[in-house]
Amino acid sequence: MCGIVGYIGNNFAKKVLINGLSNLEYRGYDSAGISLINNNSIHTLKTKGRVKDLIQLSNIDKIDGYCGIAHTRWATHGEPSDKNAHPHNNQNNTFSVVHNGIIENYNELKDFLISKNYKFISETDTEVIPNLIDYYYKEGNDFLHSVYNACKHFKGSYAICVISSFCPDKIIVARKSSPLVLGKGINENFIGSDIPALLEYAKYFYFIKDNEFAEVFKDNIIFYDKDLNKIEKNYKEISIDSSDITKNGYDDYMLKEIYEQPKSINNTLNNLNFETLDFTKEYLNNLKKIYIVACGTAMHAGLVARTLIENLCKINVEVDLASEFRYRNPIIDNHTLAIFISQSGETADTIAALELAKSYGAKTIAVTNVPESSITRIADKVLYTSAGPEIAVASTKAYTSQVALMSYFSIYLAELLDSNNNSLLEELKEDLKNIHDKISKILNSTNLQIKDIAKKIYNEKDIYYIGRGLDYCVALEGALKLKEISYIHAESYASGELKHGAIALIENGTTVVSIVTNPSLIEKSISNIQEVISRGAKTIIITNQHIDNDSFNYIIEIPKTNEYLSPILSVIPLQLLAYHVAKFKNLDVDKPRNLAKSVTVE
Ligand code: G6P
Repeated sequence: MCGIVGYIGNNFAKKVLINGLSNLEYRGYDSAGISLINNNSIHTLKTKGRVKDLIQLSNIDKIDGYCGIAHTRWATHGEPSDKNAHPHNNQNNTFSVVHNGIIENYNELKDFLISKNYKFISETDTEVIPNLIDYYYKEGNDFLHSVYNACKHFKGSYAICVISSFCPDKIIVARKSSPLVLGKGINENFIGSDIPALLEYAKYFYFIKDNEFAEVFKDNIIFYDKDLNKIEKNYKEISIDSSDITKNGYDDYMLKEIYEQPKSINNTLNNLNFETLDFTKEYLNNLKKIYIVACGTAMHAGLVARTLIENLCKINVEVDLASEFRYRNPIIDNHTLAIFISQSGETADTIAALELAKSYGAKTIAVTNVPESSITRIADKVLYTSAGPEIAVASTKAYTSQVALMSYFSIYLAELLDSNNNSLLEELKEDLKNIHDKISKILNSTNLQIKDIAKKIYNEKDIYYIGRGLDYCVALEGALKLKEISYIHAESYASGELKHGAIALIENGTTVVSIVTNPSLIEKSISNIQEVISRGAKTIIITNQHIDNDSFNYIIEIPKTNEYLSPILSVIPLQLLAYHVAKFKNLDVDKPRNLAKSVTVE
């Protein structure tokens, strides 16, 4: 979603800001803009489209300065357009603001400002911010107090960076429920909505918490709490290997990340330490329920975890979408364990759901891939997937790392509970240890076959994904991958449920992808596939079972593993299928339309 970059220092700001925006492109956006201070006046340029469109604007070469802010916008209020793009300035061009989040009461604030003769030119909620700051400045407040007073009125979420022609030596930042980090340099400081924006320039970072403010000068940063009392903050060193944030020879981040999965799973499993959870057998025995709450792909990882925890530990598990969970009055008390899975650790609904569960007394665990992300500061305990930065919008290596982590977590719980299935637990541990080799085998042996299949199906309008049990969980993820990046309507169905609806949609030539890995359900799964074949379907089967291949169009074979771990393997061909289909359609697989990597508004 929207991205923020800010710079103040001894160097020209424009290059840093544009580079920062390019590093944020992966988040998904539809317009871009920049404001720079020069000779005590603000120069703003913005446009609908990409960062490359911004740098082609005719006036861009004419502006620069030592202090500036920049933004990539993902439209919420008002269509993607030049005038709705950020930065937004007040009428007199004395304040310029970039904003992530939503000011929910902007209409009320706009009416107030209009009554004071302020004029608005955009359809955005953001435009009230520079104007309200201007209002307070004209009332006699200094720059900092004007921002502070304005923020007191905002309902909703915001991370803002503000510059002013009255004070060209500083940038003021504030945040509530939207991420913001500061990068520390020497005689220069940086602002970003996430760390990757700044990794080229900084390795020491300050993290701004909700309701805090900061005045960022080139050689100093002053931090304030919610009442504008000065506070001290320590910086943290963040080191990320630069090959983690480049394509490293691959055409796209998504393909690179698919191929990184043997390594990302290994790193995740090797870095796990469940002792930090402080669980006891007694605590687990007294648990009434585990909730697993997440969005998108992360929720699909939760569905896999449910089967493992319920089967291995006999604890009742419910999985929910964060956006639903938070509004359905879930039954939570201190005998509830609530687990929140989020690659980015910034998804607004997941964070709000976590806060809700915590307020009702649940013990909370965040499972995330991003150290220092917002979720890590709220949950009681944190478990990290060590998948490395995931840049492509469609999640691949984060998903398999989440599933591997949650699988190991289930084994850990079962061991603590003395669940009497030691040989199974040992087998699972052994299989997990070797799973990276099996992923490598799949990548090596199936890629060309899948590319070939993709070439034959990339013009289809609808594709169905079916499976039973854990295979159904993978069908959900496979269909999501395809629709995210290829824009083909992809629907997943539990095979046994087909007859209750989706089979009506199957006609001559419809492609149905089936996942068949559960040995105890193989006959039933094959019967369901036969039912769609009888209605004319073309079938693609992902399997580790020996099945007679006469009736199926394509069989993609994957190695055997314990059935509880099969999702980690069976999803890989589906990721490749989505990737190749999108490539044949000439689409931008890393930055699909309308989607964002990190969904920071609800
Ligand atoms: C967005 C992304 C998905 C992701 C979901 C949840 O929709 O495009 O890839 O699965 O958000 O994100 P999270 O960071 O919370 O895992």
